[in-house]
Parts: sequence; structure tokens; C-alpha cells
Amino acid sequence: MRKIALTGIKPTGILHVGNYFGAIKPALALADEYDTRLFIADYHALNTIKDPKELSANIRQVAAGWLAAGLDPEKIIFYRQSAVPETFELTTQIMAFTSKGLMNRAHAYKAAVQDNTEKGDDPDAGINMGLFTYPVLMAADIILFDADVVPVGKDQVQHVEMAQDIAQAVNFNYKQQVLKVPQAVVQEEVAVVPGLDGRKMSKSYGNTIPLFAPEKELRKLIMRIVTNSQGVEEAKDPDTSQIYLLYKLFASAEEQQALAKLYRAGGMGWGVAKEELFRVVNRELTPVRERYEAIMADPVTLDGILAKGAAKARPIAAATVKRFRKAAGID
Ligand code: ADP
Ligand code: TRP
Repeated sequence: MRKIALTGIKPTGILHVGNYFGAIKPALALADEYDTRLFIADYHALNTIKDPKELSANIRQVAAGWLAAGLDPEKIIFYRQSAVPETFELTTQIMAFTSKGLMNRAHAYKAAVQDNTEKGDDPDAGINMGLFTYPVLMAADIILFDADVVPVGKDQVQHVEMAQDIAQAVNFNYKQQVLKVPQAVVQEEVAVVPGLDGRKMSKSYGNTIPLFAPEKELRKLIMRIVTNSQGVEEAKDPDTSQIYLLYKLFASAEEQQALAKLYRAGGMGWGVAKEELFRVVNRELTPVRERYEAIMADPVTLDGILAKGAAKARPIAAATVKRFRKAAGID
């Protein structure tokens, strides 16, 4: 039997090239080794996004984006968290086994409190219970699907450890393995994708290459990459060049060697390197963009894919909730 991998995708904005290499590609590769479950964590996003139009658009764009990037819904169970109501029953079930102190120690909550304190505000200003209990909902997402491994970035490891604690507390109390205890897997080898200004590519820095930018915009963005003031004739170091670091993500080994040679030889201006970067980025992203546009233009099919995913997910979820009820004497 293959082990089960699960991860959640918070629909908080337009996908970019950093998400593509840092999250989407590694998650899709999991399916070679694991029974994989991926879901759109829409109730997690509700904690911060209160505009219904914005939330609804984010959910659709992110779902379409993952499908366009190659998620095969026949191989991976792909669903919306909100379409699996068992999530919220399990959340209530495990609340009774989650100490309040554990939530007080959650990084995201602590950071918000510290922020308030530094500003001289009430410590809990602007903090809703959704944010405070975020780790319990996330534990339910994970435990519901008997996940063995949960691939996440470093910032989410603490949450997975809390899910472990909670599952163990339940199993200890009922003296049986009611819930599977998950393991976090940190994807160390995934490099940070640089943005247009050299910092980490991130929505919050406004330095992203959106994954589905139309060709014209893509070219404009690439031409905007910050370079140093070296002249055309000077030999250049590929390994410290933003353009080359991005190029490596999109180009073949031969292409990389050829461009590195041009850098070192001198006589190549930054404009030429940018044109070459645009060529390979556009080559990779054009089919992804075309699939994305086709999926977004056909909402009925998109809804159908997500509904099918939920139909596969729910019996698994129902079995977990039932196991808990039985163990707890609520059957
Ligand atoms: P952003 O920083 O743009 O808000 P998110 O925090 O929404 O991005 O990230 C979603 C996922 O994409 C996470 O798994 C994160 O590790 C990954 N990711 C985001 N930006 C990068 C980047 N520049 N390089 C590698 N991975 C990234
Ligand atoms: N909290 C995760 C994030 O902010 C998203 C998420 C929600 C998740 N539920 C999950 C990740 C379950 C892994 C497993 O990125």
C-alpha cells in the first residue's frame, strides 16, 4: 500500500513563478510516490479575505491554476475544503483534545499579538477566532484523510506538529489508534525563486512574474529586471545575475551552458540576456497560460472536476469522523 501525502493550498491571490517552482511542481511530483490529496483551503482564506467577490475569484483562479500547471484529477484527489463538511465535524471533535495553551504558542497568533503590543493596541485587536484556532482546522484537514506525510514550507511545520500532538492526545485517551499521526516533510531542496528586484519573489513585495501573464506583459516584466551597470563589452558573472538565476529554472542544460559562455565572453548586453530569458519563459508558460484560459472560460467543467474530487474525498473523511464518534461514545 502506498503512503498518503496531503497538502492544502490557501487561495490568497494570483499564482506566480515562485509558487510554480516552489509549491506546485514539487506537490505534483508527490503523486509518483504517494497517494496524493490536494485541496483548496477556502475556509482558511476566509480568516483574512472578507470580500466575497475576491474570495470567490481567488478560489477559482487557484483551482484553475493548479489544473493548468498539470494537476491530473484522475491521479490526485483534488477538492475544496468547503465541499467536505466532515472537516468541520472533526474540527469540533478534536477541539476537546486541544489545549488552549497550544494555540497561544502558535507562531501566526503570537506574531499578531506582538504586532499589536508594539503598536500599543489591545493584544488581541483584529484577531478573530478563526486565526486563533487556525491550527485546529488545519489539523482536521490533515487527520481527516489519514495523511502519512504533509509536505509544507518551514513556516507550516509547527502546525503539522500540533496536528501530531492532537492526534496523539486522542489516541492516548481512547487507548487505541483512532487517528493517524502525520509527519511534516520540509522540502529543503526547493530553492527560493528570485523576483524582479532580486529579493524573494513574493506577492507582498510586488516583484512577481504572474504565471498567466499575457505574452506582452511577460516581456515587459522581464525587461524590467534590475541589472547592474556593467557595459556591453564587459565579461559578466552568470552566477550573480538575476536574469541567469531565473533562466536556470526554464532552460535546458545546454541552453544554460551556452548563455553562461556568452556572459563570460563579454560583448553581450543585458538586453540580449533578457530577450533570451523571455524566450524560454514564454516557451514554458505559453501552454500553461492557454490551458488556464480554457479552464477559466469553462466554469461548468471546472466545477465538475472539483465536485468529482469532493465525491472521492468525502467517504474517506466520513470514515475518520465515524471512527472518532465510535471511540468517543457518540455513535
Ligand atoms: P507569497 O510569498 O507570494 O505570498 P505564498 O506565501 O502564498 O506566496 O506561497 C505559496 C507557496 O509558494 C508556498 O509553498 C511557498 O513556499 C511557495 N513560494 C512562494 N514564493 C516562493 C519563491 N519565491 N520561491 C519558492 N517558493 C515560493
Ligand atoms: N496553512 C497552510 C498555508 O498557509 C495551508 C493549509 C491549510 C494546509 N490546511 C493544510 C497545508 C493542511 C498542509 C496541510 O499555506
